Amino acid sequence: MIQTIPPSSPGVPDVGHRRAIRSFVRRTGRTTVGQAKAFDDMGPKFLLPYTPSAIDLTAVYARSAPTILEIGFGMGEATAHIAALMPEKNFLCCEVHTPGVGALLKRISEQALGNIRIVQHDAVQVMEHMLPPQSLDGIHIFFPDPWHKKKHNKRRLIQPPLIAQLVTRLKPGAYLHCATDWRPYAEQILEVLSAEPLLKNTADASSEGYAPKPHYRPLTKFENRGIRLGHGVWDLVFTRLGSAAPSPPGRGSG
Ligand SMILES: C[S@@+](CC[C@H](N)C(=O)[O-])C[C@H]1O[C@@H](n2cnc3c(N)ncnc32)[C@H](O)[C@@H]1O
Repeated sequence: MIQTIPPSSPGVPDVGHRRAIRSFVRRTGRTTVGQAKAFDDMGPKFLLPYTPSAIDLTAVYARSAPTILEIGFGMGEATAHIAALMPEKNFLCCEVHTPGVGALLKRISEQALGNIRIVQHDAVQVMEHMLPPQSLDGIHIFFPDPWHKKKHNKRRLIQPPLIAQLVTRLKPGAYLHCATDWRPYAEQILEVLSAEPLLKNTADASSEGYAPKPHYRPLTKFENRGIRLGHGVWDLVFTRLGSAAPSPPGRGSG
């Protein structure tokens, strides 16, 4: 049974309310011997169990550093590339697909990446329950499932209630970066992000609201194949407006 979850922030639409509709299906897929070994060897350190309560990111990474949330990393190709490029940042990466989680654990081992933690759970619940307000410096959502058929469009991850809640987890000035190769979904993302009052587009009107591909996002095998076939890719980069939350009494700013 799928439970609904009460809203965690007053005044923010209840994302939990629509949780009966998920943005993913739990696919069965073969986990390779290498991925299984990576689960055994790397899992204890790099897998963070889902908990329905807020986590202390400084304690999780044993350091205080800017933290980027990634939703749906697939096989983790872009994730590992970016984490290697930015060792000074923490990456909190959510994926539900077991072979994908195994694949990223394997990359962590092969590339000796210390700045990634993986939560194998629905990222919407992770965001709602584990992440404190204004705790993130960025969010990456690369090639979210497009759910092409009209009757499945409601499964798309990027919808107004989710974005309204997601932006509350961003610090002022922090960014949300989405990329998709499905034009109708790019248009939907642009519409949803543009309508969110706390977000500001970094792209100007001359590019129809789409951003140039940021240098850190690699061209993955999947994307290269699309480019060869003449498909387009759209990047959208928005930043969060607003001022920092007031510090609790007796605490310093931050
Ligand atoms: C089309 S794949 C893209 C993977 C990867 N970002 C890439 O660029 O290759 C989308 C992935 O998002 C995952 N996903 C979808 N909704 C999710 C959610 N709510 N929480 C965690 N993962 C999710 C799916 O399992 C799938 O692996």
